Amino acid sequence: MSAKKRPEDLRSHRWLGVTDLRSFGHRSRMRQMGYDGEDWGGKPVIGIINTWSDANPCHVHLRTRAEEVKRGVLQAGGFPLEMPAMSLSESFMRPTTMLYRNMLAMETEELLRSQPIDGAILMGGCDKTTPGLLMGAISMDIPTVFVPAGPMLRGNWHGQVLGSGSDAWKYWDEKRAGKITEEQWSEIENGIARSFGTCMTMGTAATMMAVAESLGMTLPGASSIPAADASHSRMAAQSGRRIVEMVWDDLKPSDIITKDSVDNAIKVHMAMGGSTNCIIHLVAIARRAGIKLEMSRFDELSREVPVIANVRPSGAYLMEDFYYAGGLRALMGQLRSVLDLRARTVTGASLGENIEGAEVYKPDVIKSLNDPVSRDGATAVLTGNIAPRGCVIKPSAAEKRLHKHRGKVIAFEDYNHMAREVERDDLDVTADHILVLKNSGPQGGPGMPEWGMLPIPKKLVKQGVRDMVRISDARMSGTSYGACILHVAPESFVGGPLAFVQTGDEIEIDLPARKIHLHISDAELARRKAAWQKPAPRYPRGYGALFSDHIGQADDGCDFDFLVAPGKVPEPEIH
Ligand code: FES
Repeated sequence: MSAKKRPEDLRSHRWLGVTDLRSFGHRSRMRQMGYDGEDWGGKPVIGIINTWSDANPCHVHLRTRAEEVKRGVLQAGGFPLEMPAMSLSESFMRPTTMLYRNMLAMETEELLRSQPIDGAILMGGCDKTTPGLLMGAISMDIPTVFVPAGPMLRGNWHGQVLGSGSDAWKYWDEKRAGKITEEQWSEIENGIARSFGTCMTMGTAATMMAVAESLGMTLPGASSIPAADASHSRMAAQSGRRIVEMVWDDLKPSDIITKDSVDNAIKVHMAMGGSTNCIIHLVAIARRAGIKLEMSRFDELSREVPVIANVRPSGAYLMEDFYYAGGLRALMGQLRSVLDLRARTVTGASLGENIEGAEVYKPDVIKSLNDPVSRDGATAVLTGNIAPRGCVIKPSAAEKRLHKHRGKVIAFEDYNHMAREVERDDLDVTADHILVLKNSGPQGGPGMPEWGMLPIPKKLVKQGVRDMVRISDARMSGTSYGACILHVAPESFVGGPLAFVQTGDEIEIDLPARKIHLHISDAELARRKAAWQKPAPRYPRGYGALFSDHIGQADDGCDFDFLVAPGKVPEPEIH
């Protein structure tokens, strides 16, 4: 952070404050929109990157919230300009929003770079929007505040609380087992999503919004406020006021995101029982900030920090309850002894100062390090001969009996193969089998879809089986649960050893030892590898082809190689 800026130091001054022909054009076009010099003259121009969309139910309120941000910007003497960006709606996009996270990151970075913007407000929350927006803003490195969309209200069915994702999977299995009727299933459809806002279980959205806050990129407490709560509007306006001050102070992401703040974010993720997707996104975020984060760091810290947020799928409550219990400030207060409290944040104060006085109001929802929800850890990273670069599992969401397990494999070549087979009543499968899904990784999916919670075969569901070991190079929704081993790297589509697993093989997993092993000889593995044929790329042209050519593997955060490349992009010339 350098000394206070003067109006002529602003980026926007190069567009609007000089007197050449080009700036005449910029100002005349500002006037075309009904503004005059009083609106912009010498003021920080704040770009509000808004991922509002009619096709994204998690973000429908962001249109109104942008107006509230603008109110704050104007109050503080700034000039707001709202700019729409790709929304990445988890609810509707196929094959997966992950295919487009890097596209949003590129869009964010280039929107900010190419226009007269001095500071940024990022508005998002639905899963990939948070990392996408942050990655772009970090690469651009101008003052930035993230405004999280916030979780939706609790779901309700016949007086029972329903959680996003988790209860959909749970009742789908009840329906497959013939335990609930079509009519009840459609009642659940009416009650599971009752307001705007993101999923309200500890899915990827809640995890990544908390990660943004624990990195120091939101106002204190912002990530836990339910979208429909009036506090959310006030937080939006406060963020608008704060970003104007940050521009004058030149407080940038590079002043905030450090190795220590990344460690803080990992610890918060562990304590929240966060989504496994966080590993991929946080690796990508850290690497954009020049921090070489490895998956092994997650494993190290998962042994230090237990799960203390009693929120589904690892716990019992939902994000609305978490907010009433004190929210993320209260959770971070419980972690004081393990966090680096000196880490700087967008407030200009330290994390320690921001959580000063935070209290837990409901100790059953936010527990303590001495009395956690689970000591098993939110994330374990395993390695072995089928995952030389690692794979991950969420031990706290898996049945304990499966933490050490050896079983016979049933292997599926792709998603459609798997989807057909699991519905067969005559499938030769027991609860001790291990299901393996191939070709679901970054290139194979493509985009590494959330297929990692493979359905329990119908035959076993009817017998009451609700968990078994499943292995894939896919991801899993943070709202999912079970003994699902994910992100196997390198993926099968590019010839990772998962490609050579066959039905009838045996695999052994040992979570305490962090090991996974395919019981075949090295010679047999080599023979299968020699016989393997590389599949054709999924896309012949367009963005998908660019994606396939440049996407990194899961352990590298799935960023594009040319986006993590070192070097500074020059400011655009103004002619
Ligand atoms: Fe948007 Fe879950 S669908 S957060």
